[in-house]
Amino acid sequence: MVHPDDLRHTEIALNNGSGAMPALGFGTLIPDPVATKNATKAALEAGFRLLDTAERYRTEREVGEAMQEVFKEGKIKREDVFVVTKLWNTNHRPERVKPAIEASLQKLKLDFLDLYLIHTPFAFQPGSEQDPRDANGNVIYDKGVTLQDTWTAMEGLVSEGKCKAIGLSDVSLEQVQDIVKAARTKPAVVHVESHPYLPEWDLLNYCKENGIVLQAFAALGHSSEPSLLKDPVITAIAQRANKTPAQVLLAWAIQRGTAPLTTSKTPSRIRENFEVSALPDDAIREISDGVTSRVRFNAVVKTGVPGFIPREK
Ligand SMILES: NC(=O)c1ccc[n+]([C@@H]2O[C@H](COP(=O)([O-])OP(=O)(O)OC[C@H]3O[C@@H](n4cnc5c(N)ncnc54)[C@H](OP(=O)(O)O)[C@@H]3O)[C@@H](O)[C@H]2O)c1
Repeated sequence: MVHPDDLRHTEIALNNGSGAMPALGFGTLIPDPVATKNATKAALEAGFRLLDTAERYRTEREVGEAMQEVFKEGKIKREDVFVVTKLWNTNHRPERVKPAIEASLQKLKLDFLDLYLIHTPFAFQPGSEQDPRDANGNVIYDKGVTLQDTWTAMEGLVSEGKCKAIGLSDVSLEQVQDIVKAARTKPAVVHVESHPYLPEWDLLNYCKENGIVLQAFAALGHSSEPSLLKDPVITAIAQRANKTPAQVLLAWAIQRGTAPLTTSKTPSRIRENFEVSALPDDAIREISDGVTSRVRFNAVVKTGVPGFIPREK
């Protein structure tokens, strides 16, 4: 039997023999660079062994520096950490995919990634402007490339050893199904917003049937309203189980078979979010059946514009 305290160390096997990934992960979508570096170091010190970043977050350099400093101390090695970053929308053209991962690897000071995701299924006008807009302020999309074209280029990165696994982010169930049907290398991970207000059961069931890990962002509700951390079902279970609401949400996410991501700039919250232990099965059912509000906090799936990143300029 798995000891309840082992929940935080849960690993989920990846398809295509690309090893396993920690279920509990730390995201680095933090606007301030100094805070990003400090939080990344604090997360590794607290026990997190999965770091999620993205070209678009502009945090890869700080995540790389934080890892280097922690590795130098000698307690944690590169191979202990599962590093994830993402191809941005302006790099969907196949010829831009390899230069994009190489630029990310350089910033992260790594030779390979554990997982590389297509950040969104929306291709934007290629170029160095991450948020290309026309004179009316509308996003300029790139109609000259399909998600399948980009996926084929991603498959090439695995063959070349640039990354061990590849996946999709901010996609619908139908988009995942289309890629799975045509792919030579199936997605190892599908990374989407998911929490009790957006459980994505159909997508989760499909992923489980096809050996794909569903990685869940905004697992604590992204400090947005309505507050998941104040939901009466969650707070009642937290009180009963002597845990914090965040720990209840993370235990639910892992015990139902997803891989949740949290982010915090606050060292005490970073430690709290790693100190996750298993809840009784009836508490998991109570959350799955008893929380009936439905909220999507991030509209990125509709437009490819990342809702949680502040607009520049
Ligand atoms: N692919 C995508 O489109 C996409 C989109 C969004 C996010 N992501 C990834 O997912 C990661 C997580 O998403 P998220 O930032 O929405 O995560 P989240 O953990 O749901 O929300 C983070 C917010 O919750 C607060 N918080 C963290 N732990 C807490 C606790 N124990 N108690 C109370 N408040 C707490 C943080 O505040 P403080 O920082 O002030 O402590 C922060 O404001 C991101 O960093 C990113 O890597 C991906």
